[in-house]
Amino acid sequence: MTGLLWVTVPYVAFTSFLLGHIWRYRHDQFGWTTRSSQLYESRLLRWGSPLFHFGLLAVLGGHVMGVGVPESWTAALGVSEPAYHLMSVSMGTLSGLATVAGLGILLYRRATVAAVRKATTGIDKIMYLLLGGAIGTGMLNTVGSNLIGGGYDYRATVSPWFRSLFTVHPRPELMAGVPTSFQIHALVVLTLLGVWPYTRLVHVFSAPLGYLTRPYVVYRSRDVNHPGAHRYARAWEVSATPAARKVHNHP
Ligand code: HEM
Repeated sequence: MTGLLWVTVPYVAFTSFLLGHIWRYRHDQFGWTTRSSQLYESRLLRWGSPLFHFGLLAVLGGHVMGVGVPESWTAALGVSEPAYHLMSVSMGTLSGLATVAGLGILLYRRATVAAVRKATTGIDKIMYLLLGGAIGTGMLNTVGSNLIGGGYDYRATVSPWFRSLFTVHPRPELMAGVPTSFQIHALVVLTLLGVWPYTRLVHVFSAPLGYLTRPYVVYRSRDVNHPGAHRYARAWEVSATPAARKVHNHP
C-alpha cells in the first residue's frame, strides 16, 4: 500500500501531466486557453482573480522553499527550525488566506452569475473541486497543524519524500507515519496534477508575460520600409511579405 500511494500514484500523475500536455498541445492548440469569462462579468473578477493568482504564486514560492530546499541547507545558512517555522507559518497563512479569499470570490461569481455558470463545463467542476481540495487541505496543514496545533516538521518527511521522486530513488517509507492532512494534501495535489493537462489550467504555461513589457499602445504600420515600422519591433511581427499583402488586398 505504501508503495502504491507514494511511488505508483506520483509517477502515474507525473506521466499524465507530461504526456497529457504534449498530447493537448499537438491536438488542441485552439483549446489551449483560460476560456476567459471576463466578457460576462468583470466587477467580481477584478478582485477575485488577482487575489487568487498572486496569493497562489506566493504559496507556491513557499513550497519551493519548504518542499524543494533541504532543511540542512537552510540550517547551514543559519536559519534555525523555530525561525523557519515562524516564517513559514506567518507567510504561509497570509498567502493561503489571500488564495482562499480569491478562490471564494471566483467560485461565488461562477455560481451566481448566470452567464458564467452556463459557461462552466464538467471538467471545470472537477478541476475546481480538486483545486479547492488542494488549497483546503494545504490550509489544514498550515493553519490547523502548524499554527494552531503543536507544529509538524514536514521538512523531515514530506519534503525529502517529494524530492526523492525526482532523483528516481523514491523513499515511500518517509510518508507512512505522516499526519493524515499532509497525506491527503499530497494525494489531492497529485490527482490535480494528473488531470491538469485536460483542463483550463494549461493556461499556466502560456501566461502572457509579454504584457509586462509591451507598449501601452501598439502602433502598426503597413509600410515595412517606414522607419517607424521597426520602433516597436518587440511587440509585433510582419505577418506576410508586402507582395503577399498586395495580393491579399487587391485580389
Ligand atoms: C506534491 C506537491 C506538494 C506538496 C508535497 C505540498 C506540501 C505542503 C505542505 C507540507 C504544506 C504546509 C506548509 C507549512 O505549513 O509551512 C502545504 C501548504 C499548502 N499547500 Fe501544498 N504541497 C504541494 C503542492 C501544492 C499545490 C499544487 C497547491 C495549490 C494548488 C498547494 C496548496 C497549498 C496551500 C494553499 C497551503 C497552505 C498555505 C501555505 O502554507 O502556503 N500545495 N503544502
